[in-house]
Amino acid sequence: METNEHMRKHDERCETIGLLTKLEEYITDETNDSLYYYRLAELAPEEEDRSIILGFARDEAMHASNFKILYRLLTGTVPPEPVVVEPQIEDFEEGVERRILAESGDFRKYAMDYVEYHEPPVCDLFYLTSVAEGQHAMRLTLFLN
Ligand SMILES: [Fe+2]
Ligand SMILES: [Fe+2]
Repeated sequence: METNEHMRKHDERCETIGLLTKLEEYITDETNDSLYYYRLAELAPEEEDRSIILGFARDEAMHASNFKILYRLLTGTVPPEPVVVEPQIEDFEEGVERRILAESGDFRKYAMDYVEYHEPPVCDLFYLTSVAEGQHAMRLTLFLN
C-alpha cells in the first residue's frame, strides 16, 4: 500500500516535470509564432488579409502568455526567457503554406496534450489552444490563390 502511494507520488512528480518541459518549449514556440505572423502581416497584399493575420499574431502571443501563467501557477517561479528567432519569409504565399502545416500539427499536438493532462485548468488550456490552432490552419487557406 505504502509502495503504491510512493509510486503514485513519483509518477505525479514525473508528470509535472514533463509538463513543465513542454510548457517551456511551447512558450518559445508560441512567442516565435507570434513574431512570424507580425512579419507575415507586413507581406500581406490586402489590408483585409493583414488584419486577420495580425489577429493570429495576437492569438499566438496570448498562447505564450497563458502558458507562462500556467507555469507560474505550477512552480511559483517565472519560466526561462524564450529564445527568439528572427522570422525569415521570402514569399507571402510560401509563408502561408508553411504555417498551414505547422498549425495543423499544433492542432493535433495540443489535442494530444488535452488527453494526456486531463485535470483542469491544464486540459482546458490545451483544449482551447488546440481549437485556436485549428482555426488558424483553416483560415490560412483563405490566403491561397
Ligand atoms: Fe498558438
Ligand atoms: Fe496558431
